[in-house]
Amino acid sequence: MEKVISGIRPTGNLHLGNYFGAVKNFLRMQEDYDSMFFIADWHSLTTHPNPENIQKNARIILAEYLACGLKPELSPIYIQSDVKEVLELYLFLNMNAYLGELERTTSFKDKARKQPNNVNAGLLTYPTLMAADILIHRAEKVPVGKDQEQNMEMARKFAKRFNHTYGEEIFPIPQSFSFSGEMIKIPGLDGSGKMGKSEGNCIYLKDDEKTIKKKVMKAVTDGGPSSLNSEKPEVIQNLFTFMEIVSSPDTFEYFNDKWNSCEIRYGDMKKQLAEDINKYCAPIREGIEYYSNNDALLDRIAKEGAEKARESAQETLKLVRKVIGFK
Ligand code: TRP
Repeated sequence: MEKVISGIRPTGNLHLGNYFGAVKNFLRMQEDYDSMFFIADWHSLTTHPNPENIQKNARIILAEYLACGLKPELSPIYIQSDVKEVLELYLFLNMNAYLGELERTTSFKDKARKQPNNVNAGLLTYPTLMAADILIHRAEKVPVGKDQEQNMEMARKFAKRFNHTYGEEIFPIPQSFSFSGEMIKIPGLDGSGKMGKSEGNCIYLKDDEKTIKKKVMKAVTDGGPSSLNSEKPEVIQNLFTFMEIVSSPDTFEYFNDKWNSCEIRYGDMKKQLAEDINKYCAPIREGIEYYSNNDALLDRIAKEGAEKARESAQETLKLVRKVIGFK
C-alpha cells in the first residue's frame, strides 16, 4: 500500500470550509492508503507564537480531527515535536539545501515581507523541515493544496539530490496528491465566494446553535427576484449552494421553486439553512467537546501515534546515517 503523510498546521479551529475542503478528503484517504497524520507544531515557531499556545493549538487540532472522524487505529496521528528523529533528517537535508534556492521560494519572500524584523533561519529552511517530515517516512504521496506546490517541489528536489549524492534510492520521490478537483467549496455568507479565515466569514465546527443562527441570519441577500425563473445573483446562489450541501434535496427544491415563482422569503430560507447547518454540525460539535474535555485520551492517542511514527522514522534514519557515513 502506498504511504501517505499529511501535515496539518495548528492554526486554530476548523470551519465548514476546511471541513468540506481538505478535511473530508484527508479522512477519505485513511481507508485506502497507509497514511499518517501529524500536527506541524515546530513549523509554527517561525512566527514566534506565545508559549502558552503551543500545546493548546495542537490539542485543538487533534480534538477537532478526531471529532471529524479521523481513526487513529487506521492512520496514526502524532505531534511533530514528539518525533525528534525528524530533526536529525532536517539537519542532514540542510547540508544539501542551498541558500539561493531557499531564498527564492515565494513563501519565504512573502513571510520575509510580512515580518521584516523576524527573517529567521527557520523561516528560510521551512521547506527542508517540511521535506524531512515527508522523507522521514519515505512517503510516496502527500495531500496538499495548491499553496504548498513549491514546498513539494523542494521536497522532491532534496530527495533526488540526496539519492544522487549517495548513489542509492533511499527516498521515493514524493508526489503531491491533489484533490482540489473533488473539493467542495463552501461559499461565504457575506457575499464573498469562499469561506475562509482571512475573509472573517467562517462558521466554525465548534460554533453552537445560537452562534450558527446569528451568522446565517446575517447572510447578505438582495431585493428578491423580479421575474419568473430568473438567474440567481452570486449572493443568492451562495445560499443555495450551501443548502445543497447541508439540507435535504426536498428542502433545496422547495426553496428553489419559491425562487423560481418569485415567492421566496429569504428570512425563512436562512432559518431553515441555519437549522440544517446545526443539524449537520451537532455530532461533530459534540465530538469536539468530548475530546477537548479528555486530555488523557488525547495524550494517549498522540503518544501511540508518536510511537508508530518513531518506528517508521528510525528505519529511515538507519539507512540515511549509513550512506552518509555514520556506520
Ligand atoms: N506546510 C504545510 C502547510 O502550511 C504544513 C506541513 C508541514 C506539511 N510539513 C508538512 C504538509 C509535510 C504536508 C507534509 O499547510
